[in-house]
Amino acid sequence: MAGASSVRLYNGDVQILDGTKVRAEILAGLKPRIANLKRPPGLAVVLVGHNPASEIYVRGKIKACGELGIFSEKLTPPESITTEELLDVIDELNHRPDIDGILVQMPLPKQVDSRRVLESIAPDKDCDGFHPVNVGHLVAGRRAPRACTPAGIMEMLKYYQIPLAGRRAVVVGRSDIVGKPMALMLLQENATVTICHSRTVDIEEECRRADILVAAIGRPGFVTRDFIAPGAIVIDVGQNRIEDRALAERFGKAAEFDKKGSALVGDVNPIDAMHCAGAYTPVPGGVGPLTIAMLMSNTVQLAEKHQAVNE
Ligand code: GUN
Repeated sequence: MAGASSVRLYNGDVQILDGTKVRAEILAGLKPRIANLKRPPGLAVVLVGHNPASEIYVRGKIKACGELGIFSEKLTPPESITTEELLDVIDELNHRPDIDGILVQMPLPKQVDSRRVLESIAPDKDCDGFHPVNVGHLVAGRRAPRACTPAGIMEMLKYYQIPLAGRRAVVVGRSDIVGKPMALMLLQENATVTICHSRTVDIEEECRRADILVAAIGRPGFVTRDFIAPGAIVIDVGQNRIEDRALAERFGKAAEFDKKGSALVGDVNPIDAMHCAGAYTPVPGGVGPLTIAMLMSNTVQLAEKHQAVNE
């Protein structure tokens, strides 16, 4: 393994990739499409129980709907709900003509079979792009709802005109929500793609080969300068809240910690990214703003499809 001292630093300027700018452009593009529809797009959000992080995410999704003129309905079944009861809730939403997208916020309580629930959503109302039919469409390169976070990253790369064809992309993390669909989307754009995970041998070396490095592991500051080729494009998907001041200080977030009692850190050490990367998505303000924007985009796309089918 290379020690930090053997890693070359990048001497050019690092470009900060600003997710709020890309989000604004995505949302501006949706407004005329929504205005052209005969009725507002409709999104149902199912939030089971009281997971505090999920409650924050769902609030953001509902707020974005309100700002865009998308009808939203929040359903809040109790933590004790059974799989069968939740399947009934989804079945009713599947049949509602005013609902174009159904989002079941993850994670679900332990007693619920998440896979069965996600597979029960009609594929043409699957605004998260998690249904196996839509994952299959992604594999086949067809137009269909796509997982929001990686789809947002693709919009970001396009916005900043970062070329992908023939370039080496390394995705760290193999989750169904981010890592796997991310790898497929990069492949679709003709990148040479590697997926790294917990069993990868010499992960630093794999990552140092990347022109484009996507970190989606859920471990604060896991990607250090040992992982980053000088000038690489570094995309940080992590959103980790840390409650240890020493750790916050290591990531240059002591001031934030002292103000709030915790700090938000991505999967990439931000100080190392600023020294080594050619471009970098900060946390917060990088990838985060794009996920909800792409949820809105998927919902509008589904509403357009439903209108076209009914014409
Ligand atoms: N939990 C964390 N991220 C997501 C997401 O993108 N969609 C849903 N439904 N749940 C999540």
